[in-house]
Amino acid sequence: MHKTLIKSILSAMAPMNDVTVCGWIRTRRDGKGVTFLELNDGSCLTNLQCVVDADTEAARGLGDHGTGAAVKVCGELVPSPGKGQRWEVRATAIEVFGGADPAVYPLQKKRHSDEFLRTIAHLRARTNKYSATFRIRSRAATAIRTYFESEGFYEVHCPVLTGSDCEGAGEMFRVTTLPPGEKDLSKDFFNRACNLTVSGQLEAEALAMGLGRVYSFGTTFRAENSNTPRHAAEFLMVEPEMAFADLSDLMELAENLVHHVTDYVLTQCEEDVSLFDRFVEKGLIDRLKIIAEQPFARITYGEAIDILVKSGREFVFPVTYGVDLQTEHERYLAEEHFGKATIVTDYPRNIKAFYMRNNDDGETVAAMDVLVPRIGELIGGSQREERLDLLQHRIIELGQQLSDYDWYLDLRRYGTNPHAGFGLGFERLIMMLTGIANIRDVIPFPRTPGNLEF
Ligand code: 4AD
Ligand code: MG
Repeated sequence: MHKTLIKSILSAMAPMNDVTVCGWIRTRRDGKGVTFLELNDGSCLTNLQCVVDADTEAARGLGDHGTGAAVKVCGELVPSPGKGQRWEVRATAIEVFGGADPAVYPLQKKRHSDEFLRTIAHLRARTNKYSATFRIRSRAATAIRTYFESEGFYEVHCPVLTGSDCEGAGEMFRVTTLPPGEKDLSKDFFNRACNLTVSGQLEAEALAMGLGRVYSFGTTFRAENSNTPRHAAEFLMVEPEMAFADLSDLMELAENLVHHVTDYVLTQCEEDVSLFDRFVEKGLIDRLKIIAEQPFARITYGEAIDILVKSGREFVFPVTYGVDLQTEHERYLAEEHFGKATIVTDYPRNIKAFYMRNNDDGETVAAMDVLVPRIGELIGGSQREERLDLLQHRIIELGQQLSDYDWYLDLRRYGTNPHAGFGLGFERLIMMLTGIANIRDVIPFPRTPGNLEF
């Protein structure tokens, strides 16, 4: 279909005699002898004003269609005499592809609550806020890929169906072809238990041991029954893994990646980000600039505990050395104490996963979490335990079977070396970039406990 995107029309340098645009009518205003349409095709936030004179072929083509209708408008691009826009289209012909009955079309009003829009997730992309969110998602994904590309990483694809539990937290969705009631796993599709992956890390480690620097950018699943604004059952994780790298290389990678992506979105999605700055989180742009430009604060877990204890703040979860950091603690550190992104390292080994490298103190591991204001944990990662005996010892200590990790242990038997990686929660990144407070509103079709309508 011959047409021009509204985004390119709006940046036209000169009038055009003959343009065709396709899009959905956002609003229709009828004046004396003239109708104004605000047309949006999703290519950008701004609508294109189309002017339709009464008693013309265009007016007859439009009929009484309004908000929600999908149309093709042909006409002339001329400077707009009205306020608020540089260009408008004087319509010469209009074709309506599909109307939207105003008696039932749910998006009649200009503003709707997030709660209401969640019940019509399939229509959310037609609103300013959600189309802007999904455009930012796309650009952020591009920024992630270009960053890794420029740093010599290869993208790898890790399996979704897996027999292992990377995080050892048991929060997995079981996949089976057994009929209800049948419990004999030897009759199941894989002759054993199968789950949806919680992380591509273990496979990414194997691939890094041949390709050097890799990253996986895939969907991961967690059946944790926590109804919080920052947990989803299905989400994307960005997981780089580097051979011949230690914790300080990893922190540098995390910091540079977040700088780059934030800067890219600030410059490439200026119009969309400013919508969030105005209507969702005042001061967002200034806060993003701090994240894009300022070095991250760096502290150890022990120092974090000291800061929290000395804060005099009453936390819901009291703080003592050895407890896992909760969102309220993470936010206090990043948001209030440092006022910027903060990297916490060297957590006690017994609150972290089995694969993290033991520090010489015998108590802590070479872990790092990146905490950001408003969200808390954005990234979790570590240097990996590359020493076969220590890794085996840890697996046994946690009451697991060595045989379940045989292939993973091979990576330590053959050509082992210091290596490190992390996982960045893509949706939490989008929450940070938009100021949106609930993870359900940055995912087109969110999956959370009890919600699978779409
Ligand atoms: O800290 P996590 O659990 O780390 C791992 O899974 C490692 N295997 C990753 C690695 O080293 N390759 O998860 C990593 C990140 C978290 O920091 C968080 O941003 C995000 O994934 N995340 C979630 N995001 C949305 N919903 C959930 N339920 C999430 N669980 C973790
Ligand atoms: Mg974590």
